[in-house]
Amino acid sequence: MRLQKYLSQAGVASRRNSEQLIKEGRVKVNGETVTAMGIIISPETDQVEVDNRLVKTIIVHEYLLLYKPVGYVTTLKDEFGRPTVRDLLADVNVRVYPVGRLDMDTSGVLLLTNNGELANRLTHPSFGVEKEYLARVRDLPDAQALATLAKGVKLDDGMTSPATVRLVKGGRPTSIVSLIIKEGKNRQVRRMLETVGHPVVSLKRVRFGPLTLADMQEGSWRKLTVREVAQLKKQVQG
Ligand code: URA
Repeated sequence: MRLQKYLSQAGVASRRNSEQLIKEGRVKVNGETVTAMGIIISPETDQVEVDNRLVKTIIVHEYLLLYKPVGYVTTLKDEFGRPTVRDLLADVNVRVYPVGRLDMDTSGVLLLTNNGELANRLTHPSFGVEKEYLARVRDLPDAQALATLAKGVKLDDGMTSPATVRLVKGGRPTSIVSLIIKEGKNRQVRRMLETVGHPVVSLKRVRFGPLTLADMQEGSWRKLTVREVAQLKKQVQG
């Protein structure tokens, strides 16, 4: 965040008066006086002083829900220059980070926030936040395959925890399976279904804890409601 914006958001002075304070040499960042305009600081880690007094800020937490389309990488900047979820948030001017990850070829609910503490909890398996997926898979899974998915599948990196599984639409050459899991191993849903002999053709996350895609267009985002934020926090209390 630009230093003058930070100062004005912290209630030190208006944007213009903050610029004046900087020009007058009254502002220090991490102990160094700054007189150049427009330097960028990290509100969470940099120490800013005005007239040798530490500026205390209240960090405003932002929570966004993105309906991620296929073809975007869940990162803010991609080393290979591929489209990222950041590209879909062009009109968002706060820095928010994805909570967990959806594969490039997965669509659906993606939460982004600058509340690092909440993000850590939401992705930690001990809190068991539910993630619900709809998978189009090859062929028709039988009762045994569905039971295996529900009980736990042996993957390279260990057994999966019990899941809730439902055949939404059985058919050939493809079927639709709903899977609710409480962990988030790398490409977990794809690997689980592959293991029981029904590779994923397409995958969508339709729910993350209390958050769903209701009334959203693919590629769009919205702010969470106060109620949704409270529900999220409640899920990872303690
Ligand atoms: N499981 C997967 O296989 N891929 C995702 O993107 C999310 C869960």
